[in-house]
This record gives sequence, structure tokens and C-alpha cells, in this order.
Amino acid sequence: METNDSAGKETLDPDLILSCENVRKNYGGTAALRGVRLRIRRGDIHALVGENGAGKSTLMNILVGLVQPDGGEIFFDGKPYAVANPFQAINSGIAMIHQELNTEPYLSVAESIFLNREDTFPGTPFLNKKETNERAKRILTKFGIDLNPKIHMEQLTLAQMQMVEIIKAVSTDAKLVIMDEPTSSLDSEETKRLFETIADLRSHGVSVIYISHRIEEIFSICDSYSIFRDGESVATGAIKETTKDELISKMVGRKVDKIFPKADIEIGETLFVAENLSGRGFQDISFDVRAGEILGVAGLVGSGRSETMQAIFGMDPLEKGKMYLEGKEIRPKDVKAAQRAGIAMVNENRKEYGLCLFRSIRENISLASLSERYRGPFINQTREKDECRQIAKRLNIKMSNLETEAFALSGGNQQKVVVAKWLMDRPKLLILDEPTRGVDVGAKAEIHSLMGTFAASGMAIIMISSELPEVMGMSDRILVYHEGRVHHTVTREQILSGEENEETILAKQFGR
Ligand SMILES: Nc1ncnc2c1ncn2[C@@H]1O[C@H](COP(=O)(O)OP(=O)(O)OP(=O)(O)O)[C@@H](O)[C@H]1O
Ligand SMILES: [Mg+2]
Repeated sequence: METNDSAGKETLDPDLILSCENVRKNYGGTAALRGVRLRIRRGDIHALVGENGAGKSTLMNILVGLVQPDGGEIFFDGKPYAVANPFQAINSGIAMIHQELNTEPYLSVAESIFLNREDTFPGTPFLNKKETNERAKRILTKFGIDLNPKIHMEQLTLAQMQMVEIIKAVSTDAKLVIMDEPTSSLDSEETKRLFETIADLRSHGVSVIYISHRIEEIFSICDSYSIFRDGESVATGAIKETTKDELISKMVGRKVDKIFPKADIEIGETLFVAENLSGRGFQDISFDVRAGEILGVAGLVGSGRSETMQAIFGMDPLEKGKMYLEGKEIRPKDVKAAQRAGIAMVNENRKEYGLCLFRSIRENISLASLSERYRGPFINQTREKDECRQIAKRLNIKMSNLETEAFALSGGNQQKVVVAKWLMDRPKLLILDEPTRGVDVGAKAEIHSLMGTFAASGMAIIMISSELPEVMGMSDRILVYHEGRVHHTVTREQILSGEENEETILAKQFGR
């Protein structure tokens, strides 16, 4: 076996399941990986952290054969490793749950789980659908998921799709499972179940590479970590020998002190009122939001939070109830009408709504607000560019230039583009559904501070978030959903006085 200088003998350490040495990848002019090292021990849960655009997903895509490296060496299970596609990777023992879910809408749940591993009638190439469905049902039950294996993927919620992806990966008998932000659309209950699955994998000697921007999660389940910064490996070690602050500062390259800097903003007049709204997934929802106010919305996935907001934004039909914006009754029949009335919404599924992957960053950011920039038949291009450049800089969007197409951005940077787009639209009511999903700690603080700036200018903001520390840190009031209803309202004073905390709010999400 050829293992020259750069790798050395230690890469063949039998305790290592994976070692990547000096791996490089360029995309045109962008260096995504500048010679990274990553070593994973057998049975280890290894956190891979770094800012948006650091190169984490790129290395993982190389490991599953979606991207070919420009150089470097990889050893897996003691042997040199190179794969041309994900099927070869699965056959070699590496499975991956992707950051951007890529499910085939017309496959059934069972077909998705066992894609290319379906049951056939013995001795024939003919698919045995019944057996595949039953096998899927057994594995779903084992993971405590109540899903019909025959329904199509397109009928599932984002969280359900993610659970199917997780099951698919862990059911392949892989020796290494890569999880690229697996909890970004899961609620606390589903996350707990995922953590049990991970512990189970570890007890069977399976290694996991766990990518997440949620530092708390990393400290609760990972054994070791590696940090990437700008395509280079900057640190690695054992989790119990480091601290959250140390990890964050090594990741960002500077000290980040305040994570949820809620600005003190004077709250104005009532801006939006919802009266007894009912629709698919929610009943009898009433609340108001005032100018300058940030209204947080907590609850489990599926509790009706997103459904309510989508109905307000004209995406889904409203069955009952009334809405008023600045005292005038509104009833937007579609998204365009809602936008005209002064409502904007950042949706939780950025790929489906909100981001045009094959348009430039500039076009994406200015799409929503084009009408405002229309002067006669021409777009004021200089002003458009200046504003885009400013907001891109503020959110630290990592890109070669504004004309780069959105698909070439890392996941977190795509999210920043979507948030930028709606902030530039200057709506009266801004609805944010998981605005910082997949965004690194530095940019998260930046998005929060922009929310403060816009609230101070008189905008009313509604923010749905499954990260309780974020809702608690940023909101003036919090609506807690349970089974399609607002079960409770918590005020900022109650949080500051300690009367309400993460546990009490969590309990309320469960209807207690
Ligand atoms: N297909 C592509 N074409 C051009 N550039 C790309 C492509 N994919 C990734 N890049 C660039 O490579 C760099 C690394 O991206 P990568 O997706 O690996 O980051 P990441 O660490 O996973 O970030 P995040 O936390 O946001 O998911 C980024 O600058 C990104 O813009
Ligand atoms: Mg990524």
C-alpha cells in the first residue's frame, strides 16, 4: 500500500476508522478545502464545527462520492479510500444524512428507506413491495415513528422527511454515519430520539461525524471534535477537555460574547391583530403584535405554528377568523396580496420557498423589494448593488462576489441570503420561521441585531424558533403552542424574573 510522507504511519492506526490527510478542493476561484486533516476513532461521536462556508459539507460530500477532491489522501477502515458515487460509499460502509434534504417526492417512505436495497422475490429481480413495506414498518416502529410506509415523501413535513433520512442512513449497517445538521428541523422530542439512536450506534461500534451549529448539542453527545476555519483544520481534541467559549472562539477566530443581544426597544401601537384564526392544523388563534415588538412562537414541530403563519401570509387557506393590519381588515388570498399589504415571511424550507438557486446572490436579495427600487422602466442598479453589498457584508455572507449563483453557497450562507431578502423588503409585519436555522454563531448574533434594528424602526416581528434559548433571549412575549392552539403566553418579565425558564416552557409545549 502506498502511504507516502504526508499521511505517515499513524493514519493506519487500527483505532482509526477514518483519516483524511491534506485534502484539497477548489471551486473555480474559491478554495473550499486547503489541505484539511480529519481523523475519526472507531465508535467515536465526532463533532465537526466551523463557521458557514468553512468547508464541512464539502469534505463530507467527498466522503460519499458526490464531489471529487483535487488532492490529498483518505483512508477508511485501514484501506485507501476513493468513491465515485453515494452507492459505492454505502457499500464501503459510509452513509450520510444531508444538510439539504434531497428526497424524491414520488417515492414512498419504504422505497426511500430501502432505495436500491429493496426486497426481491427469491431468485428473481422482481421487487417484493409487500416485504419492503413490512420491513420499513418494523424499522419505523423500532424508532418510535408513526408513519405509513406507503405514503409518498411529498406528503411529509420537513421533520418527517428528516427522520426518514436518518432511518435510511442508520439502517445501512454503515461503519461511519455522517450527520450534516440533522436536528435543524427537528423539535426537542425528535432530537431526544435522535440522540438515543446515536448512543445506540456508538454502543455498536459505529462512528458518527456530527455537524451542528448548536453548541449545546455538541457538548451533550459528542466525544471529540475538529474545527475547520476557511478550509483549514485549526484544532481537534476531546470534548471534555474544552469549553463552549473556547470552541466558539477557535471557530470564529475571535471572542463572541453575547449570543442573544436583545435590544431595548420602545414598543408602539398595535400593528397586527389575529382574531380566532382557524385552518388546517390550528384552531382559534388570537393574538396581536405591536410596532417594535418581537413576538416569539414556541411549540413542537407539527403544533400548528408554521401553519398559522403560512395562512396569515396567504400561502394556505384560512377557514375562519379575521386579521387586521394597522386597523384595516385584510384577507390576503395569496402571497402576492400579503406582500402588497405589507407582510413578509422567511420560510423554514428555504429551497422550496424563497431562494432561486440559479439566480445570483444580488438578484435573490433584491427580488422581493424590486418594486420599491423601480424608477421608471429601469432598476436603479447602483443603489441596488450598494444595498445588497452592505447587507451581505453585515451578515458576513461568504461568496466570491454578488453575481455568484446561490447554489454555490454553503447551507448557512444560503439562509443568510433569504433573511437578507426579506429584511430589504422593509415590510410592516415580518414573519420569520426558524430564521437562524443552520447559521453559525457569529452570523446568528448579526441576524438578531438586525432584527433589533428593524424593530426599532417600527416593524413588528413574529419569530418561530425551535431553539428555546433563542426565543427566550429575543422575544418580548412568547406564544406557546400545543396541538394547534395557543396554550400559554409568556412575557419577557416572567423570563427575566426567573418565573419562567427553559423547563417550564418546554412543559407547556407538551400541554402541561
Ligand atoms: N458547488 C459549488 N460551487 C462553488 N462553490 C461552492 C460549491 N459548493 C460549495 N462551495 C463553496 O465552498 C465553500 C465551503 O462550503 P461548504 O458547503 O463546505 O461549507 P460548510 O462548512 O458546510 O458551511 P455551512 O455551515 O454553511 O453549511 C463555500 O465558500 C462555498 O461557497
Ligand atoms: Mg454545510
